[in-house]
Amino acid sequence: MSSMRVAILTISDTASIDATADKSGPTIQQIIQEQGFDCRSPTIVPDDETQIQSFVKDCSERGNVDWIITTGGTGFGVRDRTPEAISPLIERDAPGLVHLMVSASLKHTPLAALSRPVAGTVKNTLVVTLPGSVKAVKENLEVLLSGGVVDHALDLIR
Ligand code: MTE
Repeated sequence: MSSMRVAILTISDTASIDATADKSGPTIQQIIQEQGFDCRSPTIVPDDETQIQSFVKDCSERGNVDWIITTGGTGFGVRDRTPEAISPLIERDAPGLVHLMVSASLKHTPLAALSRPVAGTVKNTLVVTLPGSVKAVKENLEVLLSGGVVDHALDLIR
């Protein structure tokens, strides 16, 4: 259905030491591939702003990725810096996507209020930050993929 290219970035100190601890990245990959997107295995980095930014800059500058999905580091943990790393890179904010994810997530759990997601475009690449748990990844992707929301966004961006 879609030839859009997706890159997954797992942001986790733990998974950066032991890749088998990454359950959310492979979950995203499976869901995204089932939707017909072109997607390789997740890249894993620790909760480190410079490494997060390098990945996003690299993908968007090469222009070979339409959608970057990150997982992890969106909360209030002392090492959680995903929004701080990605916000300065975003050229066009997508508050509607953030609203969509948070409002849908709150129907599942009030703990969704503890995620601080950001979304927007960096060059011709859409970037969306998901929380770190498998449950949260599934719930957020469900709403992003339903009704052709992201498909339509990617059609407009590229
Ligand atoms: N969003 C959804 N849809 N479902 C969830 O279970 N968990 C929350 C929240 N968002 C959750 C969710 C919890 S418990 C936390 S701590 C935050 O995401 C931040 O997660 P992160 O730091 O792993 O990114």
